[in-house]
Amino acid sequence: LKILVLHGPNLNLLGHRDPRHYGHLTLDKLNTLIRKRARELDVDVKFYQTNHEGDLVTLLQRQRKYVDGILINPAAYTHTSIAIRDAIELIKIPVVEIHLSDIQSREPFRRESMIRDVCLATFAGKKEQSYLEGLEFLVGRLKSPGL
Ligand code: DQA
Repeated sequence: LKILVLHGPNLNLLGHRDPRHYGHLTLDKLNTLIRKRARELDVDVKFYQTNHEGDLVTLLQRQRKYVDGILINPAAYTHTSIAIRDAIELIKIPVVEIHLSDIQSREPFRRESMIRDVCLATFAGKKEQSYLEGLEFLVGRLKSPGL
């Protein structure tokens, strides 16, 4: 199985952001943790980070032909992007929404997610664990779709 991990804007500066919300890891270290878990689960994983909304749309469109499932943290675009939502809705492969922080318990403008109801599930509020739990969930679904 092949899994794509998409990181949205400002996640390239992870490690410089507020550790109370985002933890202390850099993006490279986070990706290393995800890759390690992927290896344990016996799946391939690849990563993209972009600060551009349209790039996330294009990646979702193109990569749908090459991967079995996607983890996406659209960062601030979570709360604004109908374009990313529409791309997730149209592709036929499962997408899981990920956030490091607990978007429900921060500023009111973070409570809304444009993508929540077009994703298979949401994992948030557990810093890097959100990605690891999301990956396990997605792989579990792909290996036994009936569950
Ligand atoms: C985030 C939460 C968003 O509200 C914020 O804009 C981010 C990161 C998270 O992972 O907790 O940049 O998606």
